Amino acid sequence: MKVSACNPDAKPPGLRGLLYGAFCWFNRHIIVLRGIGALLRLWPSLGGRFGLAARASAVKGVMTRPRSFSNSAHAPDLVAGDYLIAMDPGPTYDADRALLEKRLAGLNVQADADQEAQRRVTELRQLGENSFDLIDDYLMWIAFHAIQPVFGTAASEVAAGAGGDVKDMGLQRQYLLEIRYVAGQLLAGNLSTLGVQRRAEVRADSLRARIEGVSSDLQKAWSSPFDVIERNAVGLAWISHPVTVQSGALVVQELLSRPKVYRTLRSMAAKAAGRVWADNGFRECVRDHVLELMRFRPIFPLLARDVPRDTEFETGGRRNALCPGGGKVAIWSIAALFDPRAVPDSGRFCPHRDWGDEEGLRWLMFGYGDRQCPAKDYAVEILTSVLIGLLTMPELRLARDDGKAITYDGPLMSRMRVRFARQA
Ligand code: HEM
Repeated sequence: MKVSACNPDAKPPGLRGLLYGAFCWFNRHIIVLRGIGALLRLWPSLGGRFGLAARASAVKGVMTRPRSFSNSAHAPDLVAGDYLIAMDPGPTYDADRALLEKRLAGLNVQADADQEAQRRVTELRQLGENSFDLIDDYLMWIAFHAIQPVFGTAASEVAAGAGGDVKDMGLQRQYLLEIRYVAGQLLAGNLSTLGVQRRAEVRADSLRARIEGVSSDLQKAWSSPFDVIERNAVGLAWISHPVTVQSGALVVQELLSRPKVYRTLRSMAAKAAGRVWADNGFRECVRDHVLELMRFRPIFPLLARDVPRDTEFETGGRRNALCPGGGKVAIWSIAALFDPRAVPDSGRFCPHRDWGDEEGLRWLMFGYGDRQCPAKDYAVEILTSVLIGLLTMPELRLARDDGKAITYDGPLMSRMRVRFARQA
């Protein structure tokens, strides 16, 4: 998520392009951000001078003071209108959060994600040596089938749009692309180029029109007044699916870069054989791996907060960081996730680590404290189904045949071509 405090309109186009390019590069090369994070941990008072919180204690301190370090920093990037993630605590926030939790409680993500993953695995197995796109042909649909039921009986209408054929996959794809661009703006914020911003704004308008078009279906499904529905349905549409898909792609990317871990998990899946989807012990083991893979490649390595009035935070060093009102601070989650003071053996890939008192930190990829992601358990369950499905497929390799296997659209991965490895 963007952390720049400078006025976006004041930037000349060349500089804007350069900053956006640099931002995307850092997002793709998370190891560099980790390295900078390690330096900030080493000299916390120095980072504090620039409003950067890096040590685990500092990050937790900032994230548990939502009135001093406000989520309103997200507000300018919500191109589709106000939503929960950028609100300060208050009655509207409480009501929207309660509505979301109620909608989430009605989901059956494990069953829905498992079912779609199995269906997709069967289909993809037919491809033989042909490559396929792990995002477009696999991840996107598992997340879609698991999350879309938050819209209840209006789920298909939201995806197809008013009057659209609910069975038309093309319309569903268009919807998924629409919400991806809106979510992309949350990540890149005012650093994105004007073209990228315009694209997000156009897609945001389509999303709002789409929700308005199916308002009566939604009113029946949610039994809430329209103004509440509009804000929450629009917000929920873009915040839920793209982030989950992108996290799934990052998890797979990290797994493929660890052949030993991948091999071990595949052989466990092979041993579980017919019980692979029903074996609770195996599922738990895969879930632990999902969290550890996410730790190495979090989708939000940095988060921003507004500072409404003069305050300070404890950096963990000799000096507190002074934070003047009207400014911003940057939360370096990527540094905290690897802080050896809080995470035992922090540099090692260790899915079954004993986190002791720091269990909360294990979920830092989903935020921390009261503003932590309300869907974290659901999202991890979806990614667990994604990974189990993947482990039941023949071994996968990145397919570099027509250029790069991974294509990016700004900070987001848009394609990940893979193919089954030839069996010896
Ligand atoms: C792997 C997938 C996901 C990741 C990595 C993720 C990550 C995050 C993070 C880091 C935050 C905190 C932002 C901050 O503190 O500034 C957050 C908040 C939020 N997430 Fe997620 N999220 C995921 C999936 C979802 C899904 C599926 C939904 C909805 C169904 C969702 C809805 C929200 C909402 C509404 C908030 C704002 C909560 C608040 O401010 O009270 N997220 N998410």
